[in-house]
Amino acid sequence: MHAFSCVEDYRLAARRRLTKLAFDYLEGGAEDGDALRRNRDAFGQWGFSPRVMTDTSQTSSKTTFWGRDAAAPMAVGPTGLNGLFWPRADELLARAAADAGLPFVLSTASTSLLEDVRAAVPHGELWLQLYVQQDRRIAESMMRRARKAGFRTLMLTVDTPVHGKRDHDTRNGFRLPLRFTPRLVADCMRHPHWSWQMLMGGAPQLRNIARSVGERADLARHAAMLSRQMDLSLSWDDLAWVRRHWPGEVLVKGILSVDDARQAQAHGADGIVVSNHGGRQLGSTLAPVEALPMIVEALSAGGRGGPAMSVFVDGGVRRGADVAKAVALGAKGVLLGRAPLYGVAARGARGVAGVLELMLGELRTTMQLLGCASVDDLTPQRLARLPALRS
Ligand SMILES: Cc1cc2nc3c(=O)[nH]c(=O)nc-3n(C[C@H](O)[C@H](O)[C@H](O)COP(=O)(O)O)c2cc1C
Repeated sequence: MHAFSCVEDYRLAARRRLTKLAFDYLEGGAEDGDALRRNRDAFGQWGFSPRVMTDTSQTSSKTTFWGRDAAAPMAVGPTGLNGLFWPRADELLARAAADAGLPFVLSTASTSLLEDVRAAVPHGELWLQLYVQQDRRIAESMMRRARKAGFRTLMLTVDTPVHGKRDHDTRNGFRLPLRFTPRLVADCMRHPHWSWQMLMGGAPQLRNIARSVGERADLARHAAMLSRQMDLSLSWDDLAWVRRHWPGEVLVKGILSVDDARQAQAHGADGIVVSNHGGRQLGSTLAPVEALPMIVEALSAGGRGGPAMSVFVDGGVRRGADVAKAVALGAKGVLLGRAPLYGVAARGARGVAGVLELMLGELRTTMQLLGCASVDDLTPQRLARLPALRS
């Protein structure tokens, strides 16, 4: 039995259990992985500047997103193809998020139907991530279904007009629908638990897209094909189209520049996610957490207090301390991408619950050590930019 004392422990366990094909898909970045590495390293540019003797006996990490309570400034972010890591992983992730008091964002490319995810968490806070394919009727159908199922917030992902170049996936022969090449069969034999689960449950499929395409023959193949046919003509004016189909909040995910943040605001978005898609799209970018302060500052200019829109950030969040830093830099909240996936891939439901519990516990400890009794106390004054040490 392994002890899981931090997210890294779950990552190592996930690497042991998953086939190379599945782990590389989970873990990898685009091209040489520069953006991926920078996402993580960027957090190290800031250190904490704690205050002491501040009475942290009643410390709480609670916050609200548009008036709705969350246990912490965190949400489980959208990730596609989760069924590759554990059967019905979307439901497991949603349930663990709801139990922890956090929102769960379901990907367009989910392997569970959004209706099944809702049934798994009748009272959970669910958000839908939207990809827009060339056939707009697919997105419209998905929004209609999600509205009906009581999803509250829409997250329009805009940094994926085409797939990033992921060399490891090419090398592993990763494609949808999965094809059992001799290489994958050999990989499966080295990872019997994963293979047994896939054998029993069937290879994961893009069931959500398939449902919105309509019941047609060879749906899986069709859905896989459509998932690659993004609408490259998508532009800022299309936010009005999204608004017509979505009465709740609309967030734009995948912003890295001040100009685009301003565009989102000008076009009436309720929020943005500063993100480089976990380093999976462009091979080399500024880390989102580096872009965050200038975006927050630009959006706040002229107004009093913080920006009018909610600014979320993701990329490289692996510790509660990272969440504290992001909030201190002006984020309303962070999305967790790979961290909960390590949990579900390592141990299913217990794993995700374990990861979220660890992150919440670390955030609380960090806040207490910083002298912050509430998330409002997490201000830029609690951070110091660290000068490089001479080696
Ligand atoms: C395996 C995997 C699949 C992903 N699929 C999607 C997706 O379907 N839609 C989306 O908007 N972002 C997707 N992302 C990006 C995440 O939402 C998030 O931006 C990113 O993972 C954050 O970085 P982190 O993994 O370092 O936390 C995916 C990320 C991973 C790791």
